[in-house]
Amino acid sequence: MQDTGKPLPLTGNEASATQPRPGVALGITESEIRRLVVAFYGEACEDAQIGPIFRRVVHDWDAHYDTLTDFWSAMVLGTKRYSGRPAASHMPLDLTRADYERWSALWSAVAVRELGEVKAEPFVDMGTKMAQSMSRWLPRR
Ligand code: HEM
Repeated sequence: MQDTGKPLPLTGNEASATQPRPGVALGITESEIRRLVVAFYGEACEDAQIGPIFRRVVHDWDAHYDTLTDFWSAMVLGTKRYSGRPAASHMPLDLTRADYERWSALWSAVAVRELGEVKAEPFVDMGTKMAQSMSRWLPRR
């Protein structure tokens, strides 16, 4: 594997420890984060490209929403509630760069629609960067 010197993002805590937490200044709430997460997976599951992956792998949706709400809360508000390793947990899924590009486009569109452009910005920004980082080494299929 080629080394760019940049570490893969491992947890929301690391990201939030090194970045300002724009969600606090923007007044983003936990219920807005949960609403975005639920809306996103509602659409992602219907998506022709990435929907089948979620439908095949995720069985306990309440647990998935809880985990992803904690993750985004750690990322955007710096709450440190998430301590998993997203990069590692996606490795077995055999995703492609095209899958991550689709994820990014959908995530950004749902964030703007649910929260408006201003509050969506940290979600769009961090989601786009993480998707790029997580997909950097993958094949374009
Ligand atoms: C093509 C794009 C993506 C697909 C198909 C996908 C799919 C999935 C699936 C199926 C899971 C559940 C894994 C399991 O329960 O075993 C999961 C977990 C997760 N995903 Fe994604 N994902 C994608 C992109 C992303 C991106 C870009 C991020 C971050 C911005 C992200 C953040 C997470 C997190 C935090 C978890 C929870 C991991 C844990 O259990 O701690 N995902 N994803």
